[in-house]
Amino acid sequence: MRTKHLLAGNWKMNLGPTQARAYARQLKESITPLSKTDVWVAPASISASAVAEELKGTSLQVGAQNVHWAESGAFTGETSPLFLKDLGATFTLTGHSERRQFFGETSEATAQRTQAALKAGLEVIVCIGETESERVSGKTERVLEEQLQPVLAGLTAETATKVILAYEPVWAIGTGKVASLKDIQETHQHIQKVWASHNLPGSAVILYGGSVNPTNFAEILALKEVHGALVGGASIKLDQWLELIKIAEATAV
Ligand code: PGA
Repeated sequence: MRTKHLLAGNWKMNLGPTQARAYARQLKESITPLSKTDVWVAPASISASAVAEELKGTSLQVGAQNVHWAESGAFTGETSPLFLKDLGATFTLTGHSERRQFFGETSEATAQRTQAALKAGLEVIVCIGETESERVSGKTERVLEEQLQPVLAGLTAETATKVILAYEPVWAIGTGKVASLKDIQETHQHIQKVWASHNLPGSAVILYGGSVNPTNFAEILALKEVHGALVGGASIKLDQWLELIKIAEATAV
Protein backbone atom coordinates (compact mmCIF):
# COMPACT_ATOMS: atom_id res chain seq x y z
CA MET A 1 0.00 0.00 0.00
CA ARG A 2 1.33 3.43 -0.90
CA THR A 3 1.77 5.81 1.98
CA LYS A 4 2.08 8.94 -0.14
CA HIS A 5 0.10 10.71 -2.84
CA LEU A 6 1.25 9.96 -6.34
CA LEU A 7 1.42 12.80 -8.82
CA ALA A 8 2.33 11.59 -12.29
CA GLY A 9 2.94 13.90 -15.24
CA ASN A 10 2.22 12.66 -18.75
CA TRP A 11 4.09 14.95 -21.08
CA LYS A 12 2.58 13.29 -24.16
CA MET A 13 4.24 14.29 -27.47
CA ASN A 14 5.61 17.52 -26.03
CA LEU A 15 9.14 18.58 -25.07
CA GLY A 16 11.84 17.07 -27.26
CA PRO A 17 15.19 16.13 -25.71
CA THR A 18 16.57 19.67 -25.42
CA GLN A 19 13.40 21.23 -24.01
CA ALA A 20 12.73 18.26 -21.76
CA ARG A 21 16.20 18.46 -20.25
CA ALA A 22 15.78 22.19 -19.61
CA TYR A 23 12.37 21.64 -18.03
CA ALA A 24 13.67 18.80 -15.85
CA ARG A 25 16.54 20.99 -14.68
CA GLN A 26 14.17 23.83 -13.75
CA LEU A 27 11.90 21.38 -11.97
CA LYS A 28 14.79 19.89 -10.00
CA GLU A 29 15.98 23.35 -8.98
CA SER A 30 12.52 24.51 -7.93
CA ILE A 31 11.36 21.54 -5.93
CA THR A 32 11.58 21.46 -2.15
CA PRO A 33 11.88 18.21 -0.14
CA LEU A 34 8.64 16.23 -0.31
CA SER A 35 7.14 14.24 2.53
CA LYS A 36 3.65 13.36 1.32
CA THR A 37 4.03 13.10 -2.44
CA ASP A 38 5.83 10.93 -4.96
CA VAL A 39 6.38 12.87 -8.17
CA TRP A 40 6.78 10.90 -11.40
CA VAL A 41 7.22 12.24 -14.93
CA ALA A 42 6.66 10.47 -18.24
CA PRO A 43 8.44 12.29 -21.08
CA ALA A 44 8.33 11.14 -24.70
CA SER A 45 10.64 8.08 -24.97
CA ILE A 46 13.12 10.00 -27.08
CA SER A 47 13.50 12.59 -24.30
CA ALA A 48 13.55 10.11 -21.44
CA SER A 49 17.36 9.66 -21.29
CA ALA A 50 17.95 13.39 -21.03
CA VAL A 51 15.34 13.70 -18.28
CA ALA A 52 16.67 10.66 -16.42
CA GLU A 53 20.18 12.13 -16.48
CA GLU A 54 18.93 15.47 -15.17
CA LEU A 55 16.84 13.93 -12.39
CA LYS A 56 19.39 11.35 -11.27
CA GLY A 57 19.95 11.51 -7.54
CA THR A 58 16.66 13.34 -6.88
CA SER A 59 13.45 11.82 -5.53
CA LEU A 60 11.72 12.44 -8.87
CA GLN A 61 11.15 9.34 -10.96
CA VAL A 62 11.15 9.00 -14.72
CA GLY A 63 8.97 6.66 -16.75
CA ALA A 64 7.46 6.08 -20.16
CA GLN A 65 4.10 6.69 -21.79
CA ASN A 66 3.90 3.19 -23.26
CA VAL A 67 5.96 0.03 -23.54
CA HIS A 68 6.08 -3.01 -25.82
CA TRP A 69 5.31 -6.56 -24.70
CA ALA A 70 8.48 -8.08 -26.14
CA GLU A 71 12.01 -7.61 -24.85
CA SER A 72 13.42 -7.03 -28.35
CA GLY A 73 12.77 -7.88 -31.97
CA ALA A 74 11.12 -6.76 -35.18
CA PHE A 75 8.67 -4.22 -33.73
CA THR A 76 9.41 -1.01 -35.58
CA GLY A 77 8.76 2.12 -33.58
CA GLU A 78 8.24 0.38 -30.24
CA THR A 79 10.13 0.55 -26.93
CA SER A 80 11.27 -2.47 -24.95
CA PRO A 81 10.73 -2.50 -21.18
CA LEU A 82 14.38 -3.51 -20.85
CA PHE A 83 15.47 -0.35 -22.66
CA LEU A 84 13.42 1.69 -20.20
CA LYS A 85 15.08 -0.05 -17.27
CA ASP A 86 18.43 0.58 -18.89
CA LEU A 87 17.94 4.34 -18.88
CA GLY A 88 16.77 4.37 -15.28
CA ALA A 89 13.00 4.47 -15.79
CA THR A 90 10.99 3.07 -12.90
CA PHE A 91 7.50 3.01 -14.37
CA THR A 92 5.38 3.20 -17.49
CA LEU A 93 1.84 4.09 -18.41
CA THR A 94 -0.21 1.56 -20.36
CA GLY A 95 -3.61 1.78 -22.02
CA HIS A 96 -3.78 5.57 -22.18
CA SER A 97 -6.96 6.63 -23.98
CA GLU A 98 -4.94 8.30 -26.73
CA ARG A 99 -3.26 4.94 -27.39
CA ARG A 100 -6.65 3.25 -27.47
CA GLN A 101 -8.26 5.98 -29.59
CA PHE A 102 -5.55 6.79 -32.15
CA PHE A 103 -3.48 3.60 -32.26
CA GLY A 104 -6.10 0.91 -31.85
CA GLU A 105 -4.70 -0.32 -28.54
CA THR A 106 -6.99 -3.01 -27.15
CA SER A 107 -7.42 -3.94 -23.52
CA GLU A 108 -5.73 -7.28 -24.31
CA ALA A 109 -2.68 -5.49 -25.72
CA THR A 110 -2.69 -3.21 -22.68
CA ALA A 111 -2.61 -6.33 -20.49
CA GLN A 112 0.31 -7.78 -22.47
CA ARG A 113 2.25 -4.53 -22.25
CA THR A 114 1.51 -4.34 -18.53
CA GLN A 115 2.76 -7.89 -17.98
CA ALA A 116 6.00 -7.24 -19.85
CA ALA A 117 6.64 -4.06 -17.89
CA LEU A 118 6.02 -5.83 -14.59
CA LYS A 119 8.33 -8.67 -15.61
CA ALA A 120 11.07 -6.12 -16.30
CA GLY A 121 10.60 -4.66 -12.81
CA LEU A 122 8.74 -1.49 -13.76
CA GLU A 123 5.71 -0.20 -11.92
CA VAL A 124 2.73 0.36 -14.20
CA ILE A 125 0.02 3.00 -14.28
CA VAL A 126 -2.82 1.34 -16.19
CA CYS A 127 -5.20 3.92 -17.66
CA ILE A 128 -8.90 3.30 -18.09
CA GLY A 129 -11.88 5.50 -18.83
CA GLU A 130 -15.17 5.82 -20.66
CA THR A 131 -16.07 8.12 -23.55
CA GLU A 132 -18.75 10.75 -23.18
CA SER A 133 -21.34 8.72 -25.09
CA GLU A 134 -20.60 5.67 -22.93
CA ARG A 135 -21.16 7.71 -19.78
CA VAL A 136 -24.33 9.33 -21.09
CA SER A 137 -25.75 5.95 -22.07
CA GLY A 138 -25.01 4.45 -18.64
CA LYS A 139 -22.24 2.11 -19.81
CA THR A 140 -19.38 3.47 -17.71
CA GLU A 141 -19.18 0.60 -15.23
CA ARG A 142 -19.32 -2.06 -17.93
CA VAL A 143 -16.66 -0.33 -20.05
CA LEU A 144 -14.30 -0.05 -17.07
CA GLU A 145 -14.87 -3.70 -16.17
CA GLU A 146 -14.04 -4.75 -19.73
CA GLN A 147 -10.90 -2.62 -19.78
CA LEU A 148 -9.76 -3.96 -16.42
CA GLN A 149 -10.60 -7.63 -16.97
CA PRO A 150 -7.54 -8.79 -19.01
CA VAL A 151 -5.15 -6.65 -16.98
CA LEU A 152 -6.33 -7.77 -13.54
CA ALA A 153 -6.69 -11.41 -14.61
CA GLY A 154 -2.94 -11.52 -15.28
CA LEU A 155 -1.85 -10.19 -11.88
CA THR A 156 -0.51 -12.15 -8.93
CA ALA A 157 -0.58 -11.06 -5.30
CA GLU A 158 2.96 -9.83 -5.81
CA THR A 159 2.66 -8.02 -9.15
CA ALA A 160 -0.61 -6.39 -8.04
CA THR A 161 1.39 -4.24 -5.63
CA LYS A 162 3.26 -2.74 -8.62
CA VAL A 163 0.11 -1.70 -10.46
CA ILE A 164 -1.59 1.66 -10.13
CA LEU A 165 -4.87 2.40 -11.89
CA ALA A 166 -5.64 5.78 -13.42
CA TYR A 167 -9.30 6.58 -13.99
CA GLU A 168 -9.41 9.10 -16.79
CA PRO A 169 -12.79 9.83 -18.36
CA VAL A 170 -11.94 10.33 -22.04
CA TRP A 171 -14.21 13.37 -22.27
CA ALA A 172 -12.28 15.07 -19.46
CA ILE A 173 -8.82 14.67 -21.02
CA GLY A 174 -7.43 17.94 -22.33
CA THR A 175 -10.89 19.46 -22.52
CA GLY A 176 -11.08 21.54 -19.36
CA LYS A 177 -14.13 19.48 -18.30
CA VAL A 178 -13.64 17.62 -15.04
CA ALA A 179 -15.77 14.78 -13.71
CA SER A 180 -17.92 15.80 -10.75
CA LEU A 181 -16.64 14.85 -7.31
CA LYS A 182 -19.60 12.49 -6.96
CA ASP A 183 -18.82 10.77 -10.25
CA ILE A 184 -15.15 10.43 -9.33
CA GLN A 185 -16.04 9.01 -5.94
CA GLU A 186 -18.60 6.53 -7.26
CA THR A 187 -16.45 5.44 -10.16
CA HIS A 188 -13.40 4.87 -7.96
CA GLN A 189 -15.57 2.86 -5.59
CA HIS A 190 -16.72 0.73 -8.50
CA ILE A 191 -13.12 0.19 -9.64
CA GLN A 192 -12.27 -1.01 -6.11
CA LYS A 193 -15.10 -3.54 -6.37
CA VAL A 194 -13.75 -4.82 -9.67
CA TRP A 195 -10.28 -5.09 -8.09
CA ALA A 196 -11.69 -7.08 -5.17
CA SER A 197 -13.68 -9.35 -7.49
CA HIS A 198 -10.36 -10.51 -8.98
CA ASN A 199 -9.26 -11.67 -5.53
CA LEU A 200 -6.33 -9.30 -5.47
CA PRO A 201 -4.86 -8.42 -2.10
CA GLY A 202 -5.40 -5.06 -0.43
CA SER A 203 -7.08 -2.29 -2.33
CA ALA A 204 -6.21 -0.65 -5.61
CA VAL A 205 -4.25 2.57 -5.77
CA ILE A 206 -6.37 4.79 -8.03
CA LEU A 207 -5.39 8.11 -9.57
CA TYR A 208 -7.83 10.49 -11.18
CA GLY A 209 -6.91 12.10 -14.50
CA GLY A 210 -8.58 14.53 -16.86
CA SER A 211 -8.08 18.32 -16.82
CA VAL A 212 -6.56 18.35 -13.35
CA ASN A 213 -5.23 21.83 -12.58
CA PRO A 214 -4.33 23.92 -9.53
CA THR A 215 -7.92 25.18 -9.23
CA ASN A 216 -9.69 21.82 -9.05
CA PHE A 217 -7.01 19.54 -7.60
CA ALA A 218 -7.39 20.18 -3.86
CA GLU A 219 -11.02 19.06 -3.72
CA ILE A 220 -10.38 16.04 -5.93
CA LEU A 221 -7.43 14.87 -3.83
CA ALA A 222 -9.39 15.42 -0.64
CA LEU A 223 -11.67 12.53 -1.64
CA LYS A 224 -10.56 9.44 0.25
CA GLU A 225 -11.11 7.37 -2.90
CA VAL A 226 -8.42 9.33 -4.78
CA HIS A 227 -4.75 8.56 -4.20
CA GLY A 228 -3.25 11.03 -6.61
CA ALA A 229 -3.49 12.29 -10.16
CA LEU A 230 -2.27 11.65 -13.67
CA VAL A 231 -1.81 15.05 -15.25
CA GLY A 232 -1.25 16.04 -18.86
CA GLY A 233 -1.42 19.73 -19.78
CA ALA A 234 -0.68 21.14 -16.33
CA SER A 235 2.39 18.90 -15.90
CA ILE A 236 4.37 20.69 -18.61
CA LYS A 237 3.73 24.16 -17.25
CA LEU A 238 6.25 24.53 -14.45
CA ASP A 239 4.25 26.99 -12.34
CA GLN A 240 1.13 24.79 -12.47
CA TRP A 241 3.04 21.58 -11.83
CA LEU A 242 4.78 23.09 -8.79
CA GLU A 243 1.39 24.32 -7.55
CA LEU A 244 -0.07 20.80 -7.89
CA ILE A 245 2.87 19.40 -5.93
CA LYS A 246 2.27 22.02 -3.24
CA ILE A 247 -1.41 21.06 -3.01
CA ALA A 248 -0.52 17.37 -2.71
CA GLU A 249 1.95 18.18 0.06
CA ALA A 250 -0.71 20.19 1.90
CA THR A 251 -3.35 17.44 1.69
CA ALA A 252 -3.60 14.70 4.31
CA VAL A 253 -2.62 11.30 2.95
P1 PGA B 1 -4.95 16.40 -19.17
O1 PGA B 1 -4.43 14.95 -19.62
O2 PGA B 1 -4.49 16.62 -17.77
O3 PGA B 1 -4.29 17.34 -20.16
O4 PGA B 1 -6.43 16.39 -19.29
C1 PGA B 1 -4.49 13.88 -18.73
C2 PGA B 1 -3.95 12.62 -19.38
O5 PGA B 1 -4.14 12.45 -20.58
O6 PGA B 1 -3.32 11.79 -18.71
